[in-house]
Amino acid sequence: MTENIPKTMNVGVLYGGLSAEKGISQMSGEAVVKSLLKLGYKATGISVDRALPSRLKEEGIGAAFNALHGKFGEDGVVQGVLELMGIPYTGSGVAASALAMDKVLTKHLLTGAGILTPPFLVVGKPIEYSQLLRQSGMNLPYMVKPACEGSSIGISKVSVPEELPGALAEAFTHDSRVLIEKFIEGQDVTVAIYDEAVLGSMEIRVREGSGRQFLDYEVKYTEGLEVFNIPPSLPGNVLKSVEEAALNAHALLGCSFYSRIDFKVAPAGRPYLLEVNTLPGLTALSYVPKIAESRGMNYEDLINGILQSASLKGRV
Ligand SMILES: Nc1ncnc2c1ncn2[C@@H]1O[C@H](COP(=O)(O)OP(=O)(O)O)[C@@H](O)[C@H]1O
Ligand SMILES: [Mg+2]
Repeated sequence: MTENIPKTMNVGVLYGGLSAEKGISQMSGEAVVKSLLKLGYKATGISVDRALPSRLKEEGIGAAFNALHGKFGEDGVVQGVLELMGIPYTGSGVAASALAMDKVLTKHLLTGAGILTPPFLVVGKPIEYSQLLRQSGMNLPYMVKPACEGSSIGISKVSVPEELPGALAEAFTHDSRVLIEKFIEGQDVTVAIYDEAVLGSMEIRVREGSGRQFLDYEVKYTEGLEVFNIPPSLPGNVLKSVEEAALNAHALLGCSFYSRIDFKVAPAGRPYLLEVNTLPGLTALSYVPKIAESRGMNYEDLINGILQSASLKGRV
């Protein structure tokens, strides 16, 4: 591998931040710092707050490894700061990050490109959704989610009409725009993109008897509540169409180097794209490192590869 980022350069690992996912980001960041040090890099963990630009200057940071998630970290804001300061960084650029963070914009782009995504409706405050819902012809159950969040934060399944107001109120505590999406029965599949190609896919199931109806926050972050299948138990042609849709979405949004794309695959084999994660979790237990491992790429190889991809992206 060509040394884009030399071992002599000060590498700042950005973690924490100002989003609801800062705890998860801290875990990703600590794991990344540890492996970069092991690989021989001069890595410093930088807990991100509004003083980030002066911190980057003080520490003489030459490249940034972005281990942030969510608002300000994954949505193009920090990427804009790094572009302005001329510091190469990992992950996607300003526009791709902003688009992917916004599930509504993502779904409009996907639909325009012929990539299947669950039917949905967007509501904003003040809430006047009943007529919209009637007009949409969408039947229960629904998933209600904030437009710009991650880690299943603020997401609820709505199975009966009485649950809708509570689900909307919860989602509105996180964002001023909320999606009411058709609930798709089927398998949860996630695809890792690495070096602009499909690295592999994984199916995630909720452990039987856990009483959970989807991959909610507790399921995602409690060890033992998830069961993984690599590769997903899908017919070859269905898996191929899932992976093709993932790579197309990565390119459509203008993502750089790596991402992780979440799907629900309906029993008939139709893959519904849920979202594009431009900064997927990087703890040792996260999905992308698991997929990488199954491909013979250990955690350190993965982190090294991502760091070496650091660049300035310009507008996108
Ligand atoms: N329309 C849907 N139908 C069925 N399950 C869904 C739907 N939307 C989300 N989910 C479930 O909720 C999880 C989190 O939703 P997702 O859209 O990926 O948001 P997040 O950014 O919080 O990960 C998914 O992995 C899936 O298990
Ligand atoms: Mg997701």
